[in-house]
Amino acid sequence: MTKYAVFGNPIKHSKSPQLHNGLFKKYNINSIYEKVLVQDAKEIRDYIIKNNLKGANITLPFKEDIYYLCDELSDDAKDIQAVNTILYKNNKLIGYNTDGDGFMESIDSYKGIKTALMIGAGGASKSVALALKKNNIKVMVANRSHAKLEFYKNKSFETSLLSDIEIKQYDLIINTTSVGLETDDLPIKKEILEKLFLQSLYIVDIIYGKETSFLKLAKAMNKTNQDGAMMLVMQGVYASMIFADINISFEDRKEIMKDSMNANISN
Ligand code: ATR
Repeated sequence: MTKYAVFGNPIKHSKSPQLHNGLFKKYNINSIYEKVLVQDAKEIRDYIIKNNLKGANITLPFKEDIYYLCDELSDDAKDIQAVNTILYKNNKLIGYNTDGDGFMESIDSYKGIKTALMIGAGGASKSVALALKKNNIKVMVANRSHAKLEFYKNKSFETSLLSDIEIKQYDLIINTTSVGLETDDLPIKKEILEKLFLQSLYIVDIIYGKETSFLKLAKAMNKTNQDGAMMLVMQGVYASMIFADINISFEDRKEIMKDSMNANISN
């Protein structure tokens, strides 16, 4: 039986085993998937090799550290400089990043997006911005401070400080800051956010398992919106396609997404 695991710290809350074991069952794949608490990325590498795992998922806070410990990297992982999926093959750790694919699939029903405003520029933002760009969507990246905007400037994104943000129409607005995680604060002043929301079509907060003030405002303004739950499930589905080298059809992926949402698998 082949073995897989998700590594993180904390990891107790992770529903990845539920998702992946469910997929293995659905597709008759004789494999098992567990969760492992680790202290650092080196421990992840050692565990995979020692236990001869076929693959792994990496979650917070190790996605960047493990990037440097992989033997080979996919183009997406290289672009993002972070790894969320590993395949262990021919004694090599091959790093992938499926977060961008997961994000794009989560907004698949949002049609006609040409422009996007991404608020926040932390680790979780890179996959989102690069995936949007790959899909020919023009992205403005706005952050509270300068430092994290450098990555985006170097990749030719338009950037702005949150305090200087130009109020205009963006089809999609995404919050990738960590603000809503532990507080009820908004990343920018409510009056400014309201003006931006008013002109936009779709609003996403990539935080999941909690309705942030950002999404509450979107709801109150009757805007089409979602949290990060579907992104989370879909990055997992894309990872499982890499693990088992199978192609899960678009229709099947939609069904898995629906089932996962009903089973509350994402939080
Ligand atoms: P992660 O890698 O998990 O995304 P991170 O790299 O610490 O976490 O990034 C958190 C993001 O939320 C950053 O864009 C951060 O802005 P700074 O670069 O200025 O720190 C943003 N953020 C955190 N708290 C914020 C707040 N109160 N208002 C606005 N942005 C905030």
